Amino acid sequence: MIAVMGATGQVGRGITERLLAGGEAVRALGRSEARLAELARLGARTCAGDAADEAYLSQAFEGARAVFTLLPYDPSLLDYHAQQDRLGESIVRALGSAGVPYVVALSSVGADLRSGTGFIASLFAQEQRLSRLPGTQVLVLRPGSFFENFHAALPSILEHGVYADAFAPDVPIPMIATRDISAVGARALMARDWEGFVVRELLGPRDLSYADATRILGECIGKPELEYVRLPDNEIERILVDAGFSEDAARLHVELAGALSDGTIRAREERSPDNTTPTTFEEFAGGLARPEASSLGAGS
Ligand SMILES: NC(=O)c1ccc[n+]([C@@H]2O[C@H](COP(=O)([O-])OP(=O)(O)OC[C@H]3O[C@@H](n4cnc5c(N)ncnc54)[C@H](OP(=O)(O)O)[C@@H]3O)[C@@H](O)[C@H]2O)c1
Repeated sequence: MIAVMGATGQVGRGITERLLAGGEAVRALGRSEARLAELARLGARTCAGDAADEAYLSQAFEGARAVFTLLPYDPSLLDYHAQQDRLGESIVRALGSAGVPYVVALSSVGADLRSGTGFIASLFAQEQRLSRLPGTQVLVLRPGSFFENFHAALPSILEHGVYADAFAPDVPIPMIATRDISAVGARALMARDWEGFVVRELLGPRDLSYADATRILGECIGKPELEYVRLPDNEIERILVDAGFSEDAARLHVELAGALSDGTIRAREERSPDNTTPTTFEEFAGGLARPEASSLGAGS
């Protein structure tokens, strides 16, 4: 059996579906049996609970040959890093007490740095904890920025006719489709063919700047005039707090944007066939246009 945390999420769902398609027995984890029900219908065993509950997680990991872990991102947390630390400690202690032999952990480009990286500093701390797990083979996946962030931003883009954020418009950064992360994760969980603590960067098909990605998105959704605009940090913080971010999370968002924009956060590996993934931003953006074409007003 392979246990998958965040099985209702972007990366975890894709991993769960691929493992089931590959004939693996899967224990799918999330906080709600109702949200896990679809995966149960596909053949997964489900086990709902909160990752802060170490006893629940230990049970959920019991007997697993391999586990996929992540630190769920929640921008409403009042003290982001402290709360992520508590989740991370619970996850690592549960992996240890269940004696899990193989772990594939979702991290991020930038998690090689202790601080100054916004949300990503929590992933640095989690990598450190995982690296100290005795007798467990740990594969850390460090993807670039998710294409799907543009999906999340779409309602605001459409409302304002512009994509506004704190990232520099013209700095190319690695961006990736979550389905490609799921594919790598699922393959590793099935193969279990590495030893020790291994880090693998996943850099998408090519580096893209926010201005370029926004232009491609605009073309794909029938709004070729769509532009990316960098707003001052304090303005972005205010917009994010109005949208439900805690003040701490809004500050971490602009710190992350600044660190990506000035090159502090960057891939450490040269681009290679091993860290380059297939799905292009054009394919992703084309997929956004299709199901939602009418609500997007494509072509208008
Ligand atoms: N966005 C990016 O550009 C980017 C880039 C690199 C790395 N990352 C990292 O990727 C991770 C997020 O991956 P994702 O996008 O696949 O996640 P996601 O779609 O946000 O899904 C989160 C999953 O975790 C579950 N979950 C949330 N809180 C939980 C809790 N307290 N206890 C147990 N389960 C909980 C959710 O389940 P329910 O809600 O159903 O309970 C859901 O299945 C984060 O660590 C983020 O830092 C993101």
